[in-house]
Amino acid sequence: MTHDFEQRAAELLDPGAHGYFAGGAGDELTLRDNVAAWDRVALAPRVLVDVSQRDTSVTLLGRERPHPFLVAPMAYQRALHADAELGTARAAAATGSTMVLSSQSTTDPSDVADAMGDASRWLQLYVFRDRGLTDDLVRAAREGGYEALCITVDFPFGGRRERDLRSGWVVDHPTYVQLATGPMTPAERHAMHDPTLTWDDIAAFGEASGLPVVLKGILRPDDAVRAVDAGVAGVVVSNHGGRQLDTVLSGADALGPVVQAVQGRIDVLVDGGIRRGWDAAKALALGADAVLVGRPVLWGLACEGQAGAQLVLEQLIDELDSTLGLLGCPRARDLDGSYVTRRA
Ligand SMILES: Cc1cc2nc3c(=O)[nH]c(=O)nc-3n(C[C@H](O)[C@H](O)[C@H](O)COP(=O)(O)O)c2cc1C
Repeated sequence: MTHDFEQRAAELLDPGAHGYFAGGAGDELTLRDNVAAWDRVALAPRVLVDVSQRDTSVTLLGRERPHPFLVAPMAYQRALHADAELGTARAAAATGSTMVLSSQSTTDPSDVADAMGDASRWLQLYVFRDRGLTDDLVRAAREGGYEALCITVDFPFGGRRERDLRSGWVVDHPTYVQLATGPMTPAERHAMHDPTLTWDDIAAFGEASGLPVVLKGILRPDDAVRAVDAGVAGVVVSNHGGRQLDTVLSGADALGPVVQAVQGRIDVLVDGGIRRGWDAAKALALGADAVLVGRPVLWGLACEGQAGAQLVLEQLIDELDSTLGLLGCPRARDLDGSYVTRRA
């Protein structure tokens, strides 16, 4: 069970490492609210519908996907298990989930591409002060058959992560970009990010890569409209797993207004606190095209490597399938606002 992995990983990992992967910013109000916000949405099932055949498929960036789950980009996976990003990528490939590889991957993006064959993958881009390094990543995305560039826009610099400040945990596995520049402390690593990045820069990355751009870390409807105007293909409604600014609103609460603002002109994804297949059904009912799953995949990887990550994804897909049946909405793409209501 997915939740058993969370518990087991907490026992298994060195406390400093566990704090880095599990933790959030400040008092972790947003971290907790990310999960609680999905629980505030209640499902409203329709009865007497033929649900003998169910279809979890969705369309994302114009492509058919067997279900709406993507693996969120997450740094330093080698600190959890030797399978590292190859493990999560193979788990994603085996389950038809799109893998979003982090800019701070501890595996070379070309090795991930080789391991995945023609399975679906995106590359997440941090824009670094060193634009040469950033360009290397864009090139790796293009040459490695990555289908989209997912530019993270909520990280001008790192949030105040107090578990890390207390533990002083330093990752001893160099990431792909650090391989190019040498080992670094967390403060040095965070200082790599370019805090001057603005809307003017975004279009250039699409042009340089020739790939569709998805902006990750949008929480406001007006920013979503600017994203449409900037010509991107999609946005991820996200607060970075509660790791940047504490007390910001959850993805679940930000989603509806963003969906309303973009009016179907681009794809809208959401992440933060998706722990169950029925959370994904709620996201789709509120207008999301797909969802990213973060920490649950990491806990699976930490406990059992690729097999654990795969089990987590399989359970989520299976839970979504049964949710569609019990909700009386056999096709995921037919989910709409009539299937959800706010819990009093
Ligand atoms: C340990 C860890 C590392 C992360 N690293 C990145 C990263 O390198 N790039 C990025 O865009 N988001 C990163 N994120 C944020 C995730 O992509 C995602 O937004 C978030 O974890 C989703 O919330 P969830 O963990 O509650 O599912 C990271 C999250 C965690 C937990």
